[in-house]
Amino acid sequence: MTVSLPERILQHLEAKGKGDSLQLAEEWKEDVQKIVGAIKSLEALGNVISVEQYTKKLWELTSEGKAVAQNGSHEAVVFNAVPEDGISQPELMKVSPNAKVGFSKAMSAGWLVLDKSSGQPVVRRKVASIDDAVRTDLSALLLEGRDQMSEAQKVEYKKRKLLQEVVVKGFHLGKGPEFTLSVSKPETDLTPEMIAQGTWRNKQFKDYNLQALGAPPPCGHLHPLLKVRAEFRQIFLEMGFTEMPTNNYVESSFWNFDALFQPQQHPARDAHDTFFLSDPKESSNFPMEYLERVKKVHTEGGYGSQGYGYDWKIAEAQKNLLRTHSTAVSARMLHRLAKEGFQPVKYFSIDRVFRNETLDATHLAEFHQVEGVIADYNLGLGGLIGVLYEFFKKLGIEKLYFKPAYNPYTEPSMEIFSYHEGLKKWIEIGNSGMFRPEMLLPMGLPENVNIYGWGLSLERPTMIKYGINNIRDLVGPKVDLQMVHDSPICRLDKEDEPTETSAPPSSVEALQQEWEVIEDRLRRLEARVSDLRSRVGVAPQPKIDLTLFADPEKPPHSVLSLLSALGVKVDFHRHSTLRTVPSEQLEQDLAGRPDAEGRCVIVWAPVGAAVELVSSPVSAVRVKGEANVLRHLGRLLEASSAGVCCYERLPAELATQVDAWLDRDAASLVRTLDARLAKEQFLVGGRLTLADIFAVSVLSNSKVKLSANVERWYQKCVKLRLSVFK
Ligand code: PHE
Repeated sequence: MTVSLPERILQHLEAKGKGDSLQLAEEWKEDVQKIVGAIKSLEALGNVISVEQYTKKLWELTSEGKAVAQNGSHEAVVFNAVPEDGISQPELMKVSPNAKVGFSKAMSAGWLVLDKSSGQPVVRRKVASIDDAVRTDLSALLLEGRDQMSEAQKVEYKKRKLLQEVVVKGFHLGKGPEFTLSVSKPETDLTPEMIAQGTWRNKQFKDYNLQALGAPPPCGHLHPLLKVRAEFRQIFLEMGFTEMPTNNYVESSFWNFDALFQPQQHPARDAHDTFFLSDPKESSNFPMEYLERVKKVHTEGGYGSQGYGYDWKIAEAQKNLLRTHSTAVSARMLHRLAKEGFQPVKYFSIDRVFRNETLDATHLAEFHQVEGVIADYNLGLGGLIGVLYEFFKKLGIEKLYFKPAYNPYTEPSMEIFSYHEGLKKWIEIGNSGMFRPEMLLPMGLPENVNIYGWGLSLERPTMIKYGINNIRDLVGPKVDLQMVHDSPICRLDKEDEPTETSAPPSSVEALQQEWEVIEDRLRRLEARVSDLRSRVGVAPQPKIDLTLFADPEKPPHSVLSLLSALGVKVDFHRHSTLRTVPSEQLEQDLAGRPDAEGRCVIVWAPVGAAVELVSSPVSAVRVKGEANVLRHLGRLLEASSAGVCCYERLPAELATQVDAWLDRDAASLVRTLDARLAKEQFLVGGRLTLADIFAVSVLSNSKVKLSANVERWYQKCVKLRLSVFK
């Protein structure tokens, strides 16, 4: 029976009482690493052996040194190559690659002479025999491990690169208090059997290795559609939209069609486009008063419309179907809004709809619809166009074209086209319009309320984004799960600032002119706002209640200074996963006023630079990223300071215009101001909005250190703010 290495070590200790890992390796001609492994495994048993590590410096031959130990020193090789009657120097140099060194060493040792007496220089032996001490020394070390050299010699050999000094680790071994000769393998698992039979009592268990690296756990991967959906959702949330509940695929014809003023004999209802349900076949629970008004507007008209003049049947409206568009959900929500008392809203939804269509490379019988709805007083078509520009700009799409279209429920209606740089043509990307009075008035909405709506598919942008040509590769049983696993996160490529001008070198004059344009526009805006305010009244001040997730390692200074401007009382919470404790100074600076109306909880958590804000009184929102949180707080600041423009509560059309003006001007202004003024330096992203101007004036009073360029830019903003909103 072969004895295992650990057992051999134990036997050695039994016999000798102590041991040394390096010696054992040498004696047993074993690899040192194997000996060390065996020692470690004995050590893991507890107190069987005692182990003490030491280090020691050793002299070792280099590969050149080993060659010398075997074949002789370079000088000896040269000496031996010189024949009785001498040799010419060039000939001698050919005997070995190291002949040159060897020759000069042999010369200085007095072994050779250069005889020039016969004209031609000849190398001759000067002594009859030599003693090759170098070889003797080195081979003693190599073959017997015997170190017989003086320190000076070692230094000399080291200089000649024949020797090197190495540090080796070894272990002194001894018997431990629980020394034994038989090793049983320690258990790694506590089994139910051990517990049942009580055998665990006598077992040795292996210690946990808490230093071991963990295996990365397998985790889920989001499908590209979900990634793009998250991106769309973020855009809507940034724009202040609220998500509609879309959790019903099955809908009645009433909400899917009738409520939307879609006549009952409309071809789209035909079984070719719609999946009707056989079980349950019908719905019967409708708001009956409203249903009566819908029936009336279809048959006789009303609200200034002549209707369709046909015999509307409830049986047709009762038929259940898989909703063909998410506008059915919008209809339900708008009806509810009217019932609960109208107030301006911005709604969105992103969910699945179903159509009985011919399947091909780009169409399936189901897809996801992205839908936006804005309801407010006195909206006009220009506002819808403005909103759509804003919305698509956030997707990185800037070139739009609107084509008149027809929907039964909107008038006017517009198909939305965008210019595809890759395909070099205009492609349809969505459908939009203003909901008809025949749809809105029966719901009970006020007469001067107008509503924008638009919709697009989620699949198309996803396919473009991820370069998928066949929809069956994206959805359905043929989807390659590896594709889902490998797809990167969705980042919408927003073109940087428009590239139309190669901006001339910044001139103060041009800058001044641009400022004047902005100021002029803001002045005009202010006039419109005060006019509006006198008609609509000032919005009530919201009570602020926020939760902010931030990382003390990367405190979002800009956001923090805005918080102090909001004058809220700040409480702190430290998440259990936190590694860096926030500095007391930081918390003191932020504490706010104890008597404040509003409240903010800052949760310190390891979230890196991605600050996240969770709720606010303006709407239930979730905002991520420093720039977006800052924007949001800026708007809150506006809303909470009496007498300033509550721009978030302006009619959507006006707010969008402000955004568009300021974005456009600020972008070119920043370019002109200083080409080096990088986006990152611009505290609220690459663009300025009215909200940012407020942020800016706060920042210029705060402790945040600004670069000279940004400082100059802020001063301008402060002036602007003061001049517009006194
Ligand atoms: N429901 C429309 C569609 O399915 C999209 C739309 C929504 C159009 C709202 C106008 C208003 O294409």
